[in-house]
Amino acid sequence: MNEDWKVDIVTDEIPGPRSKKIVEMKEQYVPDGIGLSHEIVAKEAKGAYIRDVDGNTFIDFAGGIAVINAGHSNPKIVKAIKEQAEKFTHTQAYKVPYENYVRLAKKMVEITPIKGDEAKCYFGNSGAEAVENAIRVARNYKGAPKVIRFENSFHGRTSLTMGLTANNLYKKGSFANDSFLYRTPFPDHHNFPGTKDECIDYCLDKLKYLIEIECDPEETAAVLIEPVQGEGGYLPVPERFMKEMSELLEKHDIALIIDEIQSGVGRTGTFWAFEQYGIKPDLVTFGKAIANGLPLSGVVGRKDILDSVNPGGIGGTFGGNPVACSAALATIEEIEGNLDNIVEIGELMLERLNYLKEEYEVIDNIRGIGPMIGIEFVNGVGEPNPDIVKDLLKKARERGLILLKSGAYGNVIRICGPVITSTDVINKGLDILEDAIKNSVL
Ligand SMILES: Cc1ncc(COP(=O)(O)O)c(C=O)c1O
Repeated sequence: MNEDWKVDIVTDEIPGPRSKKIVEMKEQYVPDGIGLSHEIVAKEAKGAYIRDVDGNTFIDFAGGIAVINAGHSNPKIVKAIKEQAEKFTHTQAYKVPYENYVRLAKKMVEITPIKGDEAKCYFGNSGAEAVENAIRVARNYKGAPKVIRFENSFHGRTSLTMGLTANNLYKKGSFANDSFLYRTPFPDHHNFPGTKDECIDYCLDKLKYLIEIECDPEETAAVLIEPVQGEGGYLPVPERFMKEMSELLEKHDIALIIDEIQSGVGRTGTFWAFEQYGIKPDLVTFGKAIANGLPLSGVVGRKDILDSVNPGGIGGTFGGNPVACSAALATIEEIEGNLDNIVEIGELMLERLNYLKEEYEVIDNIRGIGPMIGIEFVNGVGEPNPDIVKDLLKKARERGLILLKSGAYGNVIRICGPVITSTDVINKGLDILEDAIKNSVL
């Protein structure tokens, strides 16, 4: 999978001169709101590597924000894309339909354990669109407007999804509409003044109060949750919380919407992260990695909920584009065939990162599921340490590793590169990360 590429830094400085020039042009023509994490400009990418326009080759632990799960330019996915692109690229899914849209919907239903007997699936373009549509169908089905979401969550940047998203960073000045949206504490036991069980009990009590006293179950359509918070810092929901929440929602006929946009498609070692909780949601949103880099998202869920909307009530011009559907079918086959390896990669990462945690006091905790891992950094008095994360991103980049941060305070490094890769690449990437930590003075 990782061919003959290897880490190679050939310029005196990172970014190199060609990258710098293109970034200068970006500053002139592209709004500042499109903020860059890395000022290196991609030229080509293969497997777990990215080569920039200056000829530097990096290991990619970012994966275009948890998108390139099956590796850059995966040959089987590229073949599927080419074959479909040569046939046709667009007819519009519900004007002149095509087979691979329907085949993909069937596959999604087959691989997703949904509550009840029958499920359906339809497609959009972005993750935010999928979340909007999941809320839209859940409200329509129950005839109820209220939706509960969690502290520290991220669900996108459209008007409704900015209202759902917690962090002001993503929505400052947008005056996003949050009518009928309610927020409840996320069970982050790492940052709770008490035990894990106390944290779970506290969050369950808060949720129960919100549903039963404040919102009224009859007026509440859905609860929306990421099984592992993504932008929030790769924080998994504890198993008992997920199970007891699921029972509470079932009792009140409130839809459980699991947002798998960042955690899905093999990232945690199972196809969906929620499979590891032994629960069945009503609706699942997906996006990002489903087509390994082509824009595709969607909702898979209970037939009665999805069918409740009138024809024309959901959809969009490009949703379920034929080329993206072909890419998704090939991606799913690749991920399904590699789940054992992905679990192995996760175990390797966890073992090495836990070792680093013992060695370096700046690491407060390592958490995640499978290879979806967050590393939380603190300062000498245990407070969030975004400065070291900023420094590590720079130092790692100079040594040939691309990393991403996350977390409300920017003090978490998340590992979200290709999960179909070799242990050699993972080891090399972690060597670079360790060297960067060793050389950080913060
Ligand atoms: C959990 C989650 N939901 C929704 C979204 C929004 O997806 P998109 O950026 O494709 O609109 C993201 C993006 O990071 C996400 O991580």
